[in-house]
Amino acid sequence: MSVIQLCNIAYTYPSGITALKAISLSIKQGEKVVLMGSNGSGKSSLCLLLAGVIKPDEGDYLIKGQRFRYCRKHRQQLCRSIGYVFQDPDVQVVATHVDEDVAFGLRNIGLKEEEVQQRITEYLELTGISELRKKAVHTLSYGQKKQVALAGVLAMEPEIVMLDEPFAWLDYRQSQRLLAVLSQLSESGKTVIVSTHDSQFAHEWADRALIMQNGQLKADGSVREVFAREQLLEELDIAPVKQNMSCLHHS
Ligand SMILES: Nc1ncnc2c1ncn2[C@@H]1O[C@H](COP(=O)(O)OP(=O)(O)OP(=O)(O)O)[C@@H](O)[C@H]1O
Ligand SMILES: [Mg+2]
Repeated sequence: MSVIQLCNIAYTYPSGITALKAISLSIKQGEKVVLMGSNGSGKSSLCLLLAGVIKPDEGDYLIKGQRFRYCRKHRQQLCRSIGYVFQDPDVQVVATHVDEDVAFGLRNIGLKEEEVQQRITEYLELTGISELRKKAVHTLSYGQKKQVALAGVLAMEPEIVMLDEPFAWLDYRQSQRLLAVLSQLSESGKTVIVSTHDSQFAHEWADRALIMQNGQLKADGSVREVFAREQLLEELDIAPVKQNMSCLHHS
C-alpha cells in the first residue's frame, strides 16, 4: 500500500524561486528511501512539503490514500503520521532544555506526564544522549542538537520518519548509533526517508533512490538500478559507489 503519493506537485517560494516542479511519486509502507541531489536541488523543500510545512501551488498530496487538505484536522493527523527531522536543528529545537524539548510534541498530543517522562528516557537512550537530559539547549554542539531533534521526533512514534541529512555533523560513534536506529525503525515496519549526499550509505542502506535536480525528480528506482546507471549519476552530480567499501559497521 502507498503511504505517500504525490501527483504533479509544484511549489514556488514567495521569493519567486521554484523549488519543486511536476513531482509525482509514490512510497510504500516500510520502504527505505534515500533522497539525493546536489545542493539546492529541492530535497529539503520536498521534505517540507511531505511534512505539511509548505503547501503546493499545484498537484495533490495523498497520505494513506487520503487527499491532504491543509486544514487543522489533517495537519494534526499528519504530524502524528510523519516525523520530520529538519536539516538545521536550530529551527527545530524549541525549548530551553533538552528534556523539555522532547516533551514539547508529546504534551501537545495530550500524553499523560508519566508517559511523557517515560518516552523522554526511552528516546534519549535510543539516540545515545541520556546524559544531555537536563542540559540547556544553548550549551550544546550542533551535532548534539541534531540528536535532540531526532529524539524529539522519534518520541512521537510516527509511522513515517523523514531525516534531512541526519549524518551531517555527527561523529563516528553517533553515526554508528544512527545506523542502528535506522535499522530498528525499518525492523518495526516504519517507512524511512533519508536525504543524503552519501552515495555509499544510500547504496548499502536503501531499497529505493529518488534523485532530484533543479526541482525535478530525475531518477526514481531501486538503488541497484539507479546506481548502475553511471552516465545518469554523472549528469545528476551524484558520486558513484565504490565497491568493496562499507559504511555500515554497526554491531
Ligand atoms: N525559505 C526559502 N525561501 C526561498 N527559497 C528557498 C528557501 N528554501 C530553499 N529555497 C530555494 O529552493 C531551492 C531548493 O532548495 P532546497 O533547500 O530544497 O535544496 P536541497 O536539495 O535541500 O539543498 P541542500 O543539499 O543544500 O540542502 C534552492 O534554489 C533554494 O535556494
Ligand atoms: Mg537540504
